[in-house]
Amino acid sequence: MTVDCGEADFECHTGFVTDHIPKLQFADIGQAVAIVVGPPAMMHFSTLELLKMGFKEENIWISLERKMCCGIGKCGHCKINDVYVCVDGPVFNYTKAKNLID
Ligand code: FES
Repeated sequence: MTVDCGEADFECHTGFVTDHIPKLQFADIGQAVAIVVGPPAMMHFSTLELLKMGFKEENIWISLERKMCCGIGKCGHCKINDVYVCVDGPVFNYTKAKNLID
């Protein structure tokens, strides 16, 4: 967990999450699973860092929840190509989500 800035006694990391991802250590990167939620730019660059570290695409999950409005497949606000994020997701495996970039 990281925040933009914190008080002196704050016990979390500060700064961009992408600065901290490369510092993470995993016993077996091939078995590690990541769930990425947040603003689009943060999710994009965080996912790139995870891939650089050796995460398998199929072990990364992306939330596209921000695009939802009605949440029941009626308004079309969430539609990317032929996918309704609210009905088909909103969490997608990266192997699919990488093609849902708007
Ligand atoms: S949020 Fe309205 S169709 Fe998906």
